[in-house]
Amino acid sequence: MSTVRPPIKLGLFLYRSGHHIAAWLDPRSNINATSNFAHYAQLTQLAERACFDLVFFADSLAVRFGADADADSRIATRSTLLEPLSVLPALAAITSHIGLVATATTTYNHPFHLARRLATIDHISQGRVGWNLVTSNNEAEAANFGLKDHPRHAERYARAGEFVEVLKGLWDSWDDDAVLRNRDTGIYFDPQKVHPLHHDGEHFQVRGPLNVERSPQGYPVLVQAGASDDGRHLAARHSEVVFTAHSTLANAQAFYADLKNRAAALGRDPHSLIIMPGLSFTVAPSRAQAEDKAAALNAHLSPEVGLSLLSAMAGGVDLHSYPIDGPLPELPLTNAGQGRQHLVIDMARREGLSIRQLYERIAAGRGHASVVGTPAEVADHIEEWHQSQAADGFNILPPALPGDFADFVELVIPELRRRGLFRSAYEANTLRGHLGLSRPAPGQHHRHATAAGHAAP
Ligand SMILES: Cc1cc2nc3c(=O)[nH]c(=O)nc-3n(C[C@H](O)[C@H](O)[C@H](O)COP(=O)(O)O)c2cc1C
Repeated sequence: MSTVRPPIKLGLFLYRSGHHIAAWLDPRSNINATSNFAHYAQLTQLAERACFDLVFFADSLAVRFGADADADSRIATRSTLLEPLSVLPALAAITSHIGLVATATTTYNHPFHLARRLATIDHISQGRVGWNLVTSNNEAEAANFGLKDHPRHAERYARAGEFVEVLKGLWDSWDDDAVLRNRDTGIYFDPQKVHPLHHDGEHFQVRGPLNVERSPQGYPVLVQAGASDDGRHLAARHSEVVFTAHSTLANAQAFYADLKNRAAALGRDPHSLIIMPGLSFTVAPSRAQAEDKAAALNAHLSPEVGLSLLSAMAGGVDLHSYPIDGPLPELPLTNAGQGRQHLVIDMARREGLSIRQLYERIAAGRGHASVVGTPAEVADHIEEWHQSQAADGFNILPPALPGDFADFVELVIPELRRRGLFRSAYEANTLRGHLGLSRPAPGQHHRHATAAGHAAP
């Protein structure tokens, strides 16, 4: 039985030349996307013309070399990328409505730096920034920050929990009306409305206050993408948007219900947590044309590149010594992201895929749901997942950029609008506004602080 659901939220996940691991080899992609700001500018402007809620940039603080140097040298995503928090303000200056979301890690940043940069970008964009909080799934980052080992999973999430408490405290350290700028009285700000944090925790000691005024959204929209138990707990407590990867409707429904239940158990309104699974797609007027387009991208895929992708996604395990047309071997869970390991292992077991079939399956969507078909078939997937409580919105993952995103805008967006599922004009000016999220009340966080001035747990 169908229920009335709020309209679908859409994000464009911008990923170099596209999400397919061999996208840069295809003429439908921009070959130099890793360092070409115009590429991101044009795509963001196109997404804004289509009334997307947001664009999203992932990040990592180290080159992601795999076990095979020759394979690495063939993979664009093993080379370089622009630093997202520097890209967002430039995009803010050439757009007016679309939300701008970027990853920044809690494992290798300091909370004061990040609170300040994000608040500044929220001012520059007039309320359009979102922060994807990650604990870093790239173990190589440790060596760039003087550490021998990447901190353990539980330790990373413990630090992340304290990190976000500190950020909220800093973002609340100036009330909305703290800065008076009164030329008659000569008073610039009201010291009663400034609240140093005096945070003294296990990982951080931060006095505060922040040296940026409270920003248009109060807090940037808090986004999170962890799938483990610790990741879900953090999301249920703090996140407003959750990015997630599921290849089946049943798994997506289970994740959706679990997170909404966890949020409710913590006293939150489940509607204040927007769940956006990824969607890989190849769309064309006919199914045959779409299949040809998908096959053309897979034709660029060599076994060494496919194997290297699969090794990385299966938790850094080297699969080169196993027969390529044989089954996936038993794999140990590693210290990297556990959610995606489970996903690829489950996909191989469920469908009885060989190693080769598995890497062909994940080359474009890395384990996210995938549709190859007509505009109606892509829209059917979106509508079904939305109606059956598996998604509040979708992170769109075009295999080749800009070509596949231009096709989505031309072919799928009109179909979604015909079905009354997606907006034709923005109703709001901020990212919170697009997503239907309320602005955190000023001082909400510091009023919960303990008598000793520590952030509440
Ligand atoms: C859509 C999406 C985007 C992500 N972006 C990043 C990213 O930019 N940087 C990163 O280190 N991890 C990223 N992740 C990985 C998650 O933050 C997380 O590390 C991973 O899902 C494993 O988390 P878990 O150990 O809690 O399962 C992303 C995950 C998803 C689903």
